[in-house]
Amino acid sequence: MATRVFAPAKVNLALHVTGRRDDGYHMLDSLVSFAPVGDWLIVTEAEGLSLTVEGPEAAGVPTDAGNLAVRAAALLAGARGAALRLDKRLPAASGIGGGSADAAAALRGMAAHLGPCAGQPERLLEERGEAILALGADVPMCLLSKPLRVGGIGEALSPVALPDVPAVLVNPRLPVSTPAVFKALSARDNPPMPDPLPQMQDAAALIAALRGMRNDLEAPARAVQPVIGAVLDALQGQPGCGLARMSGSGATCFGLFTEPTEAQAAARALQAAHPDWWIASGLLGDQSELAMPRVDEG
Ligand code: C5P
Repeated sequence: MATRVFAPAKVNLALHVTGRRDDGYHMLDSLVSFAPVGDWLIVTEAEGLSLTVEGPEAAGVPTDAGNLAVRAAALLAGARGAALRLDKRLPAASGIGGGSADAAAALRGMAAHLGPCAGQPERLLEERGEAILALGADVPMCLLSKPLRVGGIGEALSPVALPDVPAVLVNPRLPVSTPAVFKALSARDNPPMPDPLPQMQDAAALIAALRGMRNDLEAPARAVQPVIGAVLDALQGQPGCGLARMSGSGATCFGLFTEPTEAQAAARALQAAHPDWWIASGLLGDQSELAMPRVDEG
């Protein structure tokens, strides 16, 4: 029996840093959506827990307990074992979930592997929320893989109705350290996003609303990794690009469009101009169905 799970990339459409807790973690107010691009995880029966990593972005990804997917699987495995095979397509340390998306996929996959009723992401969060947050602040949102307003340090999740929006994701293939970016922040008590959020009935309205929001980590990330400025300029220069912004702590940036064909053309043009950059395009939105584990009884 094999269980296949998709780990969609997370995109912070806006990320406001609104404070800092005594333990050093930052309070966030973020709007996230998910891309139909991501990693794949396959869970099969085995004794003990193991992980193998393959795929175009596998280089340098740990296969021991240093990998969040292993720690996530261990959380649910108990005495049962499993072999995890990760097809790594998202660049590591890149602000679009990566390791957190894999950990969330491991939780969904292990839950389905262990029992047919145990796999609901909401139920996992109810029962094991604290341990799941302890894996990483982005793991709870990646577990749900649908549009959310995220508060706290990443644990307060409110589903929001967001329209699908055509997007191009660009990573310049330089990893960025999240703690280094948070450390380089100059202001930690910035205003939150509007409350309630404006009406966003279509991609054009979403883009217009996002112009009134920010990613507060963009300036410190650009100081840590200046190529981010070039990525944003390249995206902004594409015909039809309504907004270019960085996701998470970088270095992945995204451009938003109203027409899917314009996003696809931009992805092709950017890839031709920058063959060494990681580039993907697709409709950002609710990927929770795509992220449900599929059990192959064969
Ligand atoms: O939780 P995670 O391991 O993804 O966080 C990595 C680092 O990012 C933390 O050690 C912390 O320095 C920083 N961080 C933060 N506030 C958050 C999330 C992450 O300061 N809400």
